[in-house]
Amino acid sequence: MITKPKGTKDIYGIEAKRWQYVSKVIDDIMEKYNYTFIRVPVFESSELFHRSVGDASDIVTKETYDFTDRGGRKMTLRPEGTAGVVRCYIENKMYGLSSQPVKLYYNMPMYRYERPQAGRYREFTQFGYEVIGSDDPLSDAEVISLAVNIYKALGLKEIKVNINSLGDDKSRNNYREALVKHFKPHINELCSDCKERLEKNPLRILDCKVDQDKDVMKSAPKTIDYLNEESKERFEKVKEYLSVMGVNFEVDPKVVRGLDYYNHTVFEIEAKIEGFGAQNVIGGGGRYNALVEELDGPKTPAIGFASGLDRLMLALEMEEVELPINDKVDLFLLYVSDDEKKYAAYLLNDLRKSGFIVETDYLNRSLKAGFKQADRLNSRFIIVLNDEDLKKNEVRIKNTKTKEEDVISVDALIYYLEENINDLYDMDLNIDNYDHKDAD
Ligand code: HAM
Repeated sequence: MITKPKGTKDIYGIEAKRWQYVSKVIDDIMEKYNYTFIRVPVFESSELFHRSVGDASDIVTKETYDFTDRGGRKMTLRPEGTAGVVRCYIENKMYGLSSQPVKLYYNMPMYRYERPQAGRYREFTQFGYEVIGSDDPLSDAEVISLAVNIYKALGLKEIKVNINSLGDDKSRNNYREALVKHFKPHINELCSDCKERLEKNPLRILDCKVDQDKDVMKSAPKTIDYLNEESKERFEKVKEYLSVMGVNFEVDPKVVRGLDYYNHTVFEIEAKIEGFGAQNVIGGGGRYNALVEELDGPKTPAIGFASGLDRLMLALEMEEVELPINDKVDLFLLYVSDDEKKYAAYLLNDLRKSGFIVETDYLNRSLKAGFKQADRLNSRFIIVLNDEDLKKNEVRIKNTKTKEEDVISVDALIYYLEENINDLYDMDLNIDNYDHKDAD
């Protein structure tokens, strides 16, 4: 038997319905915030990720799925979405659009060759969004509060927002120097990767999973202490706006992020998933004011965020959040003989066009087995079509919950179903309390 590759997942059945529901809530909220959907290729030229995510980042040095295509080009399966979105922004000259900033969102699989464990996969899905073309601290606060609002709308209760600032280039360079000074005398205490990082990108040392608990790490200088006045002021504004929006946050100097393109605001959002370790980070993002230019576009400030959907689904499960998934069929149509089957075919088509979920028997079951199948599918109503009723233009419709049966005219069937089934599919968007009409 051929099995799925290590670190991947099959999603089907009720789990697939939960994913679809979550994606629908995300779509609805992104629309309210006036973002437009974007789709970029699963693979891009490897150079894109080397120049954006960074040559010295763990993602590029250890985790990318690289291949050479039949034309000899070096390609990489995308490990994240920002690089591809920014490449698309530049290639399509979106900086020339009259409406700025450009607000884009995505929901797509990513690929990282990591050691698989709970909450960490080699193929995983991120929903994410990017605001390209604004340096306003208000957009930083909005990007953070949007993530919080999505999590809240889904019913997640225990989330923690950790923010930090890396400052502008000058602040970042001062900080970099301070880190080198701090770590150099302790170089022998660091893992082999960190020894290399000290030369190439000392900020990455703070991100190290191996050295995390060592004293030299705990006593490392903090970014906040190296921010120049301008960067400090900017960070203060972001915090003010967050407070106005009612977002609870903590300033955490340990948040430096694992990708190279960040400056100024960086943030991560944790869910309380016990036993998950670092995998309780369900999303992260930050400002990347230099990236568009580094990828040969015009100087353009930007900020964005991405959340691991797989981890988010796990967090919802752990908190036992009940998502309003429809696991019911509206009507199961049975027929006593082949004579009524044609009429069943007509009704199935007609009722589905009117928006009802209607099922029938496709296995030539006995009536008894047909009732069982209706039960398995959680059908709200059952009709057994028979010649006698149909001659009078009537059907007997049985409510499977109350066990009551009504005899109604076929012409009144749609009206009857409309009256008796609360509309589960019409969801009202109320971000504070995403309200769902109950099905029963
Ligand atoms: P990231 O922190 O690398 O940021 O990934 C964002 C989220 O994706 C993580 O917080 C985590 O929830 C999820 N994730 C990452 N790796 C895995 C994995 N192996 N298995 C399951 N989930 C995973 C970025 O990717 C940036 N592009 C975010 C961003 C957008 N910054 C600005 N704009």
